[in-house]
Amino acid sequence: MLNKKTILVTGATSGIGAAICQDLLGAGASIVAVGRNSDRLDVLKTQAPSRVKIIRFDLTQFADHKAVLTDIGTIDGLVYSAGITDSNPLRFFSLEKYQKVIDINQTAPIVLVSELVRAGCLNPASSIVFISSILGPRIGMKGTAAYAATKAALTAYAKVMALELAHKSIRVNCVSPGMVNTALITNQHQVSEESLRIDMQKYPLGKRFAEAREVATVVRFLLSDESSFITGTELVADGGYSIQ
Ligand SMILES: NC(=O)c1ccc[n+]([C@@H]2O[C@H](COP(=O)([O-])OP(=O)(O)OC[C@H]3O[C@@H](n4cnc5c(N)ncnc54)[C@H](OP(=O)(O)O)[C@@H]3O)[C@@H](O)[C@H]2O)c1
Repeated sequence: MLNKKTILVTGATSGIGAAICQDLLGAGASIVAVGRNSDRLDVLKTQAPSRVKIIRFDLTQFADHKAVLTDIGTIDGLVYSAGITDSNPLRFFSLEKYQKVIDINQTAPIVLVSELVRAGCLNPASSIVFISSILGPRIGMKGTAAYAATKAALTAYAKVMALELAHKSIRVNCVSPGMVNTALITNQHQVSEESLRIDMQKYPLGKRFAEAREVATVVRFLLSDESSFITGTELVADGGYSIQ
């Protein structure tokens, strides 16, 4: 289904982005994998050398996007999965922490897409997928203002970009998961295992968080021609959490 497509995946070195890379390779696609962790990128490359191109790059180096993209050739899709979270409650608000989250989650994707468009890297009928979240567009959570703002921004970007790129038949959509079992949540030391266990009970489907591969399959659908008339929308994959 995707065997003639080349997809650029950011966040390819961990969690959801890594699962997306595995899923796309399984579906026969070629990938351009972006991340900062060289060891993990190298492992990915050895897995399918002829179908994996790796780019070690800090996406918050905005001035370098143009130069980094010169080598990638043309692509048929982009998945923007790079992202971070950080607790930043109003009483202890840190502008520095806030800006860090905004840079990678919100500014980098728009810089990347605009450079891809300007460089003519996106083939006609390409598909762009942003990994958003229910947190921001759908629900709130104490202490997460920056993260929630960035994810709400991505859903807004998707609508605007979808309109700007429709004349090239390029589609732009978001996938919005609830909690997913990745390093993003296990590395949040301020959240106890007990509170994660309690949160899991609030997921109607299975009283559990999602696995990264369950997000990857949704992304694959949006990258494929099966979703050829879907653009500017948000596909929620949260086991029913946000409909309660
Ligand atoms: N896990 C969840 O519960 C959940 C829920 C909803 C939405 N999401 C969203 O899903 C996306 C992926 O999250 P995840 O759970 O897979 O997290 P993760 O396992 O922590 O992976 C984050 C990825 O982002 C990359 N990254 C971070 N900063 C970067 C930078 N400055 N430049 C380049 N790459 C950078 C990391 O690459 P390096 O380590 O190589 O730098 C890593 O591959 C995020 O946008 C997140 O907001 C996650």
